[in-house]
Amino acid sequence: MNILILGSGGREHSLAWAVLQNPKCDRLIVAPGNAGIDQIADCASLDVDNPSAVCDFAVENLIDFVIVGPEAPLAAGVVDMLRNAGILVFGPTQAAAQLEASKTFTKEVCDAAGAPTAAWTRFTEAAPARDYVREKGAPVVVKADGLAAGKGVVVAMTDGDALAAIDHMFDGAFGAAGAEVVIEEFMEGEEASFFVLCDGDTCLPIGTAQDHKRAYDGDEGPNTGGMGAYSPAPVLTDAIAQAALDQIIRPTMAEMKRRGTPYTGVLYAGLMIHDGKPRLVEYNARFGDPECQVLMMRLGGQALDLMLACAEGRLADAQVNWANDHALTVVMAAQGYPGGYEKGSAIAGLDALPETSSQMVFHAGTTARDGQITATGGRVLNVTARGATLQEARDQAYAMASHIEWPEGFFRTDIGWRAL
Ligand code: AMP
Ligand code: GLY
Repeated sequence: MNILILGSGGREHSLAWAVLQNPKCDRLIVAPGNAGIDQIADCASLDVDNPSAVCDFAVENLIDFVIVGPEAPLAAGVVDMLRNAGILVFGPTQAAAQLEASKTFTKEVCDAAGAPTAAWTRFTEAAPARDYVREKGAPVVVKADGLAAGKGVVVAMTDGDALAAIDHMFDGAFGAAGAEVVIEEFMEGEEASFFVLCDGDTCLPIGTAQDHKRAYDGDEGPNTGGMGAYSPAPVLTDAIAQAALDQIIRPTMAEMKRRGTPYTGVLYAGLMIHDGKPRLVEYNARFGDPECQVLMMRLGGQALDLMLACAEGRLADAQVNWANDHALTVVMAAQGYPGGYEKGSAIAGLDALPETSSQMVFHAGTTARDGQITATGGRVLNVTARGATLQEARDQAYAMASHIEWPEGFFRTDIGWRAL
């Protein structure tokens, strides 16, 4: 079959890599892709947030199956338009993607579903939000309602930080995304990510992972999109994962169906685990980045069968063939990220690294210029390895990273510390 993947990050490189291992894939196009993806698939320039452009492209290129990587095309309604055109697609509709796109929507759905999550209150003006913080006191979590590129959440440990966050959001820092603000109870515990395929009726877990959001070693420094990940996440034991399915994910899916907007695609549940019990932090309507890279390394070619079963409503008959393995990915980012950084520096040493089913460098912000890989983004490479133990995966990933010559980049040296 002819497959189109939308996106340009490390997530999409790992999706492409896994899909190409499955003999069902005859032709793969990734739009827009990056320099690493270009080495394994056809890349096409396309405005992926424009549903009719995506639909026209899919028709012209005889695409049988579309896999949507990032959240923006989902929120723009790309899945709806492809479905209306009769094209099979992996991802939720615009209405179902509200589970990521709107915090208040998710909170309402969780309350209706009885899913455990932080207590919350919504505000449309600064003054009552400020009064609420003064009354409740820190710590609290202040969130812009809409999509804010991962920057719309402030975990405020002091009243002053909370009040500043409220003013910042109502002053228009996130545009329309901050017109409504949610203030939440601060939840203590350890965070982990749980990935579940949903076809509207059936939920099939496909792995757990833990991300590292802070820029520097020891979980210091500013929040980022994620500096590394590993799978599985031992904190999400089988019992806790089952509790999350029974108490949080299945009730949420049932509520989405009851509303007439069944959820289809991968549901990424960010969980807070405390005293052996999971509570929901947030949902995302897509794979995590870099969590996808470790999931794809563990699933390999069966990932395509699972995504197809999901899109065709056949998850009740699908199963995951697990190997007893571990995967770990180290993100190499441009110095300065997540703040300002230079673009255009050259990266050497990649050609000498073996690419196998258990060792891959997935590209994120890269471009090829005159045969030279150059850095063009904040997060640039995902050095990923699989092993019989997490330690083995980690040693392998760091050994690979040591061969990459990129003085303008940096990476964390402690990915996996919690589990090790
Ligand atoms: P979100 O975008 O909702 O995932 O929030 C980003 C990060 O903020 C999460 O990954 C958590 O680390 C933290 N966070 C969000 N909500 C809470 C909460 N209610 N209690 C504690 N930490 C939170
Ligand atoms: N790594 C976090 C995310 O993809 O949202």
